[in-house]
Amino acid sequence: MYVLGIETSCDETGVAIYHSEKGLISDFLYSQITMHSEYGGVVPELASRDHIRRVVPLIKQCLEAGNLKSSDINGIAYTAGPGLMGALLVGATTARSLAWTWQVPAIAVHHMEGHLLAPMLEENPPAFPFVALLVSGGHTLLVRVDGIGQYQLLGESIDDAAGEAFDKTAKMLGLGYPGGPKVSALAEQGKPRFKFPRPMTDRPGLDFSFSGLKTFTMNTLHETEKTEQDKADIAYAFQTATAETLTIKCRRALQQTGLKRLVIAGGVSANKQIRAALLEMTEKEKAQLYFPRLKFCTDNGAMIAYAGCQRLLSGQQENLEIFAKPRWPISELTGV
Ligand code: KG4
Ligand code: ZN
Repeated sequence: MYVLGIETSCDETGVAIYHSEKGLISDFLYSQITMHSEYGGVVPELASRDHIRRVVPLIKQCLEAGNLKSSDINGIAYTAGPGLMGALLVGATTARSLAWTWQVPAIAVHHMEGHLLAPMLEENPPAFPFVALLVSGGHTLLVRVDGIGQYQLLGESIDDAAGEAFDKTAKMLGLGYPGGPKVSALAEQGKPRFKFPRPMTDRPGLDFSFSGLKTFTMNTLHETEKTEQDKADIAYAFQTATAETLTIKCRRALQQTGLKRLVIAGGVSANKQIRAALLEMTEKEKAQLYFPRLKFCTDNGAMIAYAGCQRLLSGQQENLEIFAKPRWPISELTGV
């Protein structure tokens, strides 16, 4: 079964084709970073308009790269939420219209389910059950995964998401958008000098909080002369505190569930220091760490095509409604 996947939830237009037996056939992405960086963040209306411009050419490109005709496609998966309403509607209407024209089923995919299943596209995918740490620009979630659609929320951020904290820290340090990779690059020049808090690690539970860390960063910055070295040391302290906080909570989640497999996914899972900290912890815990290749940590069409394919294979059917849900808790999903 060939499934076309369309991702338009935020600032990246991602399109891919996944085949149930042959695996990933083609995937292309158009990033809107240059357009939004002028404004220091994502401008929702500009994002929607640009998705409209990019989505159909990317679909054509995917078909051509896979040497496929539209009649080869057996189903279409699209990101239905969470995300920006206007942006989601572009993917949803494109997918539903093409599905109608091509007379194939379309399926609404939860963006975080896409991220969570992204490691399944790698050579040694994790077996169920596992613990997943989903760290993106909008979400920080710890989930127990027993199968596709079987998600038990173990913990989440009570305020800012980890990616959001990276983005805000970048802004404070004058690094611009998108913050994560920029903070990470600057942190490489930083030295261990400041000790930042590890929020909510001194009490039981698996929830996160990152807004205090942001305030701490701001106060520390104001106490320095704001030289390049000061900023690099602050970036290093912030990243170390985030990595350690995430690691402490992941260790706790593994111990609490008794599971020995940990998946990390979402934009922040591209961070080298966070990966290294989690790898060290999982080795000590005699657990296995799984993550997607770098380009599938951030938003992409491949994870949506994969998730949609699994749901279509299980026989899931939907009506013709153009479904888009900007706020959509992952715990609302049902199993296949
Ligand atoms: O998953 P994603 O591409 O989009 C959302 O679903 O939100 O995640 C984007 C987030 C942004 O906040 C970005 O700053 C962060 O992931 N990010 C990183 C890195 N690369 C992207 N954060 C830390 N280190 C990175 N290398
Ligand atoms: Zn995402």
